[in-house]
Amino acid sequence: MDRNQQLIEAAIEARKQARVPYSNFAVGAALAAKSGKVFRGCNIENISLRLTLCAEEVAVGAAVAAGESDFTAVAVVADSRQPVLPCGGCRQLLAEFNPSMEVISSTLDGRVERYSLKELLPRHNQGILEKPDGR
Ligand code: THU
Repeated sequence: MDRNQQLIEAAIEARKQARVPYSNFAVGAALAAKSGKVFRGCNIENISLRLTLCAEEVAVGAAVAAGESDFTAVAVVADSRQPVLPCGGCRQLLAEFNPSMEVISSTLDGRVERYSLKELLPRHNQGILEKPDGR
């Protein structure tokens, strides 16, 4: 099994832990670190709805809490018609660590798409804490 497929398999496993009583839409994520370790996440919903954690956020939290911050790729899996891509907020969160990481998305029945995060979130820092004189 190649590395991308291994990452997808880890996301499929993580997805089984999803807590999704409101949307019933389970998502799994797996984040590959340069060290070779893989960190898993699933979405965790909250009755407020706005406090829901995305699978990608949970994977980033697990990795950072374990002392990792150098990520090469993330896989996301959901039972959708089209592969699910990280939401806008998660794109920004992932870009904080590696704005050109690979984003691999797969449906449960195996439709896979691959992107560079750069394509999904161009100019990730533009206008953020950026003053006109470069200070
Ligand atoms: N969700 C994720 O966890 N990751 C994504 O990439 C897309 C959306 C979750 C949030 C919410 O619990 C449910 O999927 C529906 O949006």
